[in-house]
Amino acid sequence: MDFVKDLISIRDLEKKHIDMILKKSSEMEQALKQGKQLTSLKGDVVATLFFEPSTRTRLSFQTAAMRLGAKVLSFENVGASSIVKGETFSDTIRMVDGYADIIVVRHAKEGSARYAAQLAEHPVINGGDGGNQHPTQTLLDLYTIKRAKRKIEGLNVTLLGDLKHARTMRSLLYGLSMYGANVTLVSPKGLEMNKEIINEARARFGARVEEKSKMDLSDADVLYLCRIQKERFSDQYEAEKVQKEFRITEDTIKGVKDDLIIMHPLPKIDEVAPEVDRSKYAYYYEQAKMGIPVRMAIMDAMVV
Ligand code: NCD
Repeated sequence: MDFVKDLISIRDLEKKHIDMILKKSSEMEQALKQGKQLTSLKGDVVATLFFEPSTRTRLSFQTAAMRLGAKVLSFENVGASSIVKGETFSDTIRMVDGYADIIVVRHAKEGSARYAAQLAEHPVINGGDGGNQHPTQTLLDLYTIKRAKRKIEGLNVTLLGDLKHARTMRSLLYGLSMYGANVTLVSPKGLEMNKEIINEARARFGARVEEKSKMDLSDADVLYLCRIQKERFSDQYEAEKVQKEFRITEDTIKGVKDDLIIMHPLPKIDEVAPEVDRSKYAYYYEQAKMGIPVRMAIMDAMVV
């Protein structure tokens, strides 16, 4: 089956594409377990251009590329590139397009990845563009949920945190809606999910989305939370204030379903108490591991 040339938004994908990635991810996970060296990217160069900080997305893309036999090209950091001399984003992309076969880009500006895809002849993957989209995170989130729960449809999923600024949440709401999950949105006041995104998910998928100001986890199968996205606040004082009010503790998870899983794209700051980390519900480290097979599946689908 044909996959997309560029992966910029989760909206670029139809359900059949996501089904294919979920299936391929499982095959990749098996291959990794068996220690197989895969070769579908042998001879290729994957460039990871991260203009915003990253740990998991960059390292897991690089690992995934190497596991498929590719070589990796990257700035050590933006400060060591010609960006500091004033080189434009578009020139950087044009150059790298001449060096690499796949370009993974992360940038603080919304729309930057789409712009890169227009400039580049080679496939471009969005590793996060500002508060907009993070499609590969959503694919690994959907894979993690399906792997843990054997299905996505009908699950009760609570999304909690800075729903206004978090690209992971925007993309995930869309993905969950596509698969018929029941989504509850809970956020600190002023950090609600953009209404247009909710309306779009309802209009396109008949999504069951509820917004609540108080969290009730008694029916939840998945709690997915994210940090307050401090860097996207114009007033840092406001960011710190909400950060202090927002925390998952042992009390929050009293009376939850026995098989609740708590997911988080990471990094987490203060929003999860250490006793929750040690609880059987914490699933974020397992989730982060899934970045490798899922990103292998994505790149593999782009080249075959
Ligand atoms: C997220 C991101 O960069 O959007 N991190 C990630 O890719 N795993 C989440 C975040 O920064 O809060």
